[in-house]
Amino acid sequence: MNHFLDIHATDADALRAMIDQARAMKSARDGRGRAAPDDTQPLAGKMVALIFEKPSTRTRVSFDVGVRQMGGQTMVLSGAELQLGHGETIADTARVLSRFVDLIMIRTYEESVLQELAEYASVPVINGLTNRTHPCQIMADLLTYEEHRGPIAGRKVVWSGDGNNVCASFLHAAGQFGFDFTFTGPPTLDPEAEFIRFARDRGSKVEITRDPMEAVAGADLVVTDTWVSMHDSQSTKERRHNQLRAYQVNERLMAAAKPDALFMHCLPAHREDEVTNAVMDGPQSVIWDEAENRLHAQKAIMRWCLGV
Ligand code: CP
Ligand code: NVA
Repeated sequence: MNHFLDIHATDADALRAMIDQARAMKSARDGRGRAAPDDTQPLAGKMVALIFEKPSTRTRVSFDVGVRQMGGQTMVLSGAELQLGHGETIADTARVLSRFVDLIMIRTYEESVLQELAEYASVPVINGLTNRTHPCQIMADLLTYEEHRGPIAGRKVVWSGDGNNVCASFLHAAGQFGFDFTFTGPPTLDPEAEFIRFARDRGSKVEITRDPMEAVAGADLVVTDTWVSMHDSQSTKERRHNQLRAYQVNERLMAAAKPDALFMHCLPAHREDEVTNAVMDGPQSVIWDEAENRLHAQKAIMRWCLGV
């Protein structure tokens, strides 16, 4: 069963093939953005459940549009609507949904919910973000980097800020795609050791530094994300802001990276907190391509899951 649960849990050749297919599908579109004929019907007759236990703009719309562009149909469900939120077990939910739909995408809190759903479902399950990882986002980010600058292998990616779920999937990708990764942020917000170990074990150079200016020296890509994630308690907001202020991505920081370095943010962004308007809207920013590429990357992920 081709579940897409995490980048470290997916074969590296399969990941590479997904990025290449996403790029091919994107560039095969006609001048009006319509998919090439071969790409319009792979999901014909397929029903995809999109389950959201947290808010979403990009994931919700890009999956829905992606399925429809490939000839399939979607059902968007909030956690509160399902019996899942009212005491039915995840295993039983997985068994029942598998009798109705061909593919399940879920955005949830605990990683254990995703894992249990995948264990008991007889259809593929895709991770649309958990508290710990966000693999679909990083597939879109890799596609975006390669479109602009060529192969990501051997490049230096710098993450400035909170070592969160998106950062974790970047570390998985460093190991699978062979790039180096530097984290800069306060020690209390370091990425989990398990993620760092995965990348290092596969030969990536992973560095942790408290000095953001030192971190970005030689960077090909600078990335940040919100300082307070959806699963974080809002009561941490003030403390987080104090801890992370020095790690804001601004023009001064970007000027210390390579001159052709790109800037990425998975969005939604908090302008003038983790990143300034000047960087968000500046010449090194590829955030809108990054958002669009969720669509193309996930279409390839869904085709891989369904073998179509
Ligand atoms: N980047 C991302 O996953 O955005 P949404 O929360 O809007 O889906
Ligand atoms: N780290 C953020 C990513 C949102 C797409 C969160 O989990 O809220």
